[in-house]
Amino acid sequence: MFEKSQELFRKSLSFIGDARDDLDTAYPFFISKGKGAYVWDIDGNEYIDFTNANGGIVLGYCNEDVDNAVIDQIKNYGNVFATQYSKKKVELASTLLEVFPNLERVVLFKTGSDATDAAIRIARMATGKDIILTSGYHGWHDWQLNMFERFRFSDERHINFRYDLDLLRNQIEKYKGQIAGVIVTPEYNYYDDAFFIELQKIVKDNNLVFILDEVASGFRFCLGGLQKKIGLDPDITCLGKGLANGYSIAAVVGKNSVMKEACLKTHMWSTYNSELVGIVASQKTLEIMKKYNVPALIEEQSKYFAEKLKSLFNEFGITGELFTHPNIFHIVFEDDELLGKFVLECAKKGVLLSKDYENMLSLGHTREIVDNALSKIHSALEALKTNGDIKEDSGKRTLSRQALEARMTEEFDGNFEYSIFKDRK
Ligand SMILES: Cc1ncc(COP(=O)(O)O)c(C=O)c1O
Repeated sequence: MFEKSQELFRKSLSFIGDARDDLDTAYPFFISKGKGAYVWDIDGNEYIDFTNANGGIVLGYCNEDVDNAVIDQIKNYGNVFATQYSKKKVELASTLLEVFPNLERVVLFKTGSDATDAAIRIARMATGKDIILTSGYHGWHDWQLNMFERFRFSDERHINFRYDLDLLRNQIEKYKGQIAGVIVTPEYNYYDDAFFIELQKIVKDNNLVFILDEVASGFRFCLGGLQKKIGLDPDITCLGKGLANGYSIAAVVGKNSVMKEACLKTHMWSTYNSELVGIVASQKTLEIMKKYNVPALIEEQSKYFAEKLKSLFNEFGITGELFTHPNIFHIVFEDDELLGKFVLECAKKGVLLSKDYENMLSLGHTREIVDNALSKIHSALEALKTNGDIKEDSGKRTLSRQALEARMTEEFDGNFEYSIFKDRK
């Protein structure tokens, strides 16, 4: 069923330099079209998609209102000009500040990696200090690879404290007077409110710049991100995915106390940072999200989907769990190889899931589509059972510490002892 994709994949291996090892090389397949909750590959296979372009899509693929705003912009006005300022950019910045009322100043970028890179630069400019303490995934730039053992550079300016609050306290003590700030991604399926509140307290008590990387979470948990949901008050927030329903735009939003002077001391503009396609797409996306309270609508379907999927795992005797709080979900199996087979079988049945990373629903996932996906997943599980891939039911449903720790290390290099699973054996 992947003939054309496989042929193109074989060809492209000799001259294309990047691929996602969990998706591109696992099937392999080439997606050529998306609409609502669906994507299609070049062989014509249809999938109900739960990756949502790694979180870039929140309203569903090809949202007509967003796309029409973009078409109007490029047809009648143009996309980039010499100046970084534009009327539409000012309007978007005002909208972002309404969504994040605790913050006061906005700089726009193209990708989440840009935004997190700029955020730590601003922290350095604001404090005159150099060291950054970091936890979690923030992108592909050199310092951001600190999290991955296999990609790590030797780097003394960025220290990974691995969501370990003891280590954070130790590093703050050790590098007293040299630290600019702390950047953290809220891995909310693994660490609870109390963890983030404690982390913020440590950072603020030590007068360090607190950067919350809400590139993934800013428009998923609620309009306003985790900070609104649990009452955090970062100095700087990074936004990206979901901000413009698939068009490239990212933002650094922060307090004047940190950003006002710091932004003037450095150079951050870039030819395409002011690209109007992303700006108008973002303004329209935010308008729709606000009007219909989109995160709440997605939450309703997400909860339903998660509950049903958990009972399917139960029915087939799989030791596996689904974590969802509730709009970003992770699937973890005790047997990681079985999870790989499950994801592949789901793709064959027409459901696209990411094995190792985040999955999520969009506004395009109606109840009918979710039910349809569940019935395809049911057939995938039946096929695995028939093939003998699903072994005898051990009666065990909860994951071991080992399986959870492996996933947390692989996905964001997270410390286990501070996670919500710390009592697992
Ligand atoms: C929390 C977080 N920060 C930063 C990034 C990097 O964003 P981008 O892929 O747009 O560069 C990502 C992307 O996965 C992310 O999830």
